[in-house]
Amino acid sequence: MAQDQVLVDVQNLKKYFPVKKSLFGRSTQVLKAVDDVSFQIRKGETLGLVGESGCGKSTTGRSIVRLYDYSSGHVYFDGHDLADMKEKQLKPFRKRMQTIFQDPYSSLNPGMTVFELISEPMNIHGTYTEKQRREFIAGLLDKVGLKKEHMSRYPHEFSGGQRQRISIARALSVQPEFVVCDEPISALDVSVQAQVVNMLQDLQAEFGLTYLFIAHDLSMVRYISNRIGVMYLGQIVEMAASDELYEHPSHPYTQALLSSILVADPRSATERIVLQGDPPSPLSDVGGCKFRTRCSHATERCALESPRLKEIASGHQVACHLYD
Ligand SMILES: Nc1ncnc2c1ncn2[C@@H]1O[C@H](COP(=O)(O)OP(=O)(O)O)[C@@H](O)[C@H]1O
Ligand code: SF4
Ligand SMILES: [Mg+2]
Repeated sequence: MAQDQVLVDVQNLKKYFPVKKSLFGRSTQVLKAVDDVSFQIRKGETLGLVGESGCGKSTTGRSIVRLYDYSSGHVYFDGHDLADMKEKQLKPFRKRMQTIFQDPYSSLNPGMTVFELISEPMNIHGTYTEKQRREFIAGLLDKVGLKKEHMSRYPHEFSGGQRQRISIARALSVQPEFVVCDEPISALDVSVQAQVVNMLQDLQAEFGLTYLFIAHDLSMVRYISNRIGVMYLGQIVEMAASDELYEHPSHPYTQALLSSILVADPRSATERIVLQGDPPSPLSDVGGCKFRTRCSHATERCALESPRLKEIASGHQVACHLYD
């Protein structure tokens, strides 16, 4: 599949949430969940998006597919600006863009059978006879490693991995082009994680899918992503091809994230870089580099000036004053 054509073009995306200062308080603060993020995803590519919990990964994914309206910026899908589209204009794009969530149990209505769950999006976006639908769903279940006998069962009758397979079949039932996979393996046993990642890759090859693959650490994301973006407090701090990121992690935050998975590997001689403290609250407006409160390289300049993403090698961008 040609990977030179851009399918998703995110430009200066910002998503701010108004948050009440206190229960009864009228004044609100602004939580900058996504704070000026730009990147592109090419057709047939998987872009990984990685960062600690709360850094804005899900909000980015949900904004891209317009599950959220965003505060400013643009998302072009196949050249169409989704930013100001009304629901009616968005409908054809809702079919082309799907999302798989972390917890397949809460995203699958427990009162619906597998057949009903997978039929639901198909009914919204297409017209099928009952027979066509059954045949199509049987084929889909086979592709995600389930059986057609499973159609009449309910979500609670399946394991976590199988439930995620149902969610994937549901997302694919409308034949999308782009899928946001929002931590689809984080809630699964380690032994099942690789199976689901392999399956997502097979499905990608078969259907020519483009993925945004969200993960909170760097352990599995390497195997599925062509490129990876690292997020910290609503911003992208590093972006590179997968192998380049693992071989030359350049932002101090990426280095810390990577060291935390490498020390878990007994073959690795890497010393763990322990990040001090939690990230600052996204409500507090840290001036300068947002990582400076946890960075061992921070200088005075880091408090004054926020670093911008710049290219340090072909296709490798970093936002850090160490590279100025
Ligand atoms: N609907 C919401 N209202 C207010 N704050 C939110 C909402 N959704 C997410 N947030 C906040 O936005 C930040 C980013 O959240 P999220 O995108 O879920 O992060 P991640 O997916 O990386 O864990 C967090 O501080 C979170 O508390
Ligand atoms: S800009 Fe400064 S504080 Fe931020 S990551 Fe680079 S060295 Fe650390
Ligand atoms: Mg999330």
